[in-house]
Amino acid sequence: MEFKEAVNYRQSIRYFTDQQIAPADLKEIVQLAQRTPSWANSQPWQAYVATGQTLEKIKAHHLAAAQQGVSGNSDFPVAHRNQWGQPAQENMAKWGQDLQTYLGDQMPQMSAAQAHLFNAAALVYLVLPQDATDWSIYDLGAFGQTLMLVAADRKIDSMPAYEIVRYPDAVRELMGIPADQQVAMGIALGYRDPAYRINGFRTKRAAESTILTIKD
Ligand SMILES: Cc1cc2nc3c(=O)[nH]c(=O)nc-3n(C[C@H](O)[C@H](O)[C@H](O)COP(=O)(O)O)c2cc1C
Repeated sequence: MEFKEAVNYRQSIRYFTDQQIAPADLKEIVQLAQRTPSWANSQPWQAYVATGQTLEKIKAHHLAAAQQGVSGNSDFPVAHRNQWGQPAQENMAKWGQDLQTYLGDQMPQMSAAQAHLFNAAALVYLVLPQDATDWSIYDLGAFGQTLMLVAADRKIDSMPAYEIVRYPDAVRELMGIPADQQVAMGIALGYRDPAYRINGFRTKRAAESTILTIKD
C-alpha cells in the first residue's frame, strides 16, 4: 500500500469480524512499531497482546463490569470536558454531533461496541513504568500510531480506546502486568465488519490554517 493510502485507510473501527490475526502478523506489527523514535532511544514502552482464552476472559470481565455500571479507574486520569482547551472542546462537541447525525437511531451501536471491546481479534496494551516521564508518554503515543499505521498497511484495522484500559486491575491480573507498570492505553486490532454502520463513520479534521503556523 502507498504510505498516504495507509494513513487514510486507518480510521477507528468499532466492530471487527471474527477473523483472527496471524501471530506472525502481530509480531511483525509490534517489531516495526519498535522503529518509533524516543527520547535518547529510551524505548520506554512495553506491549502486552491479549488473544485466545486470555482475550475471552478480558472481554467477559469487561462486559460484566460495563453492564453493572462499574466506574472506570484507568491508570491515566480522565479529564472532565471543561478541563480541555476551548478548541479541543469545540472539536469534541462537533465529533459528538456528527456521530449522532450519522448513526441516528443506531446510536446504541456505539455503547454496544464499547461494552464488547469492539469484538477485537487482539488487544494491545501499551504499558509504561509508573514513574514514566512526560517524554515517555509522548514516545508511547508515537509508538501506538506507528503500530496502527503498520497494521493499516496490512489492511488490519485498529481502534485506540480508553475503553480498553477502563478496568486496568483485571487486565493487570489476566495479562501478568507488574504492579509497578501503568496500563496506559489500549489498541484493539482486527478486520472491519462492514455490516456495522458505525464502521462507516469518517471523522473530519479542523482546517489546517487553524492549527498550522509557518513563519519565514
Ligand atoms: C487516547 C484515545 C482514546 C480514545 N478512546 C476511545 C474510546 O474509549 N471509545 C471510542 O469509541 N473511541 C475512542 N477513541 C477514538 C477517537 O474517538 C477517534 O480516534 C477520533 O474520533 C478520530 O477518529 P478516527 O480515529 O476515525 O480518525 C480514542 C482515541 C484516542 C487517541
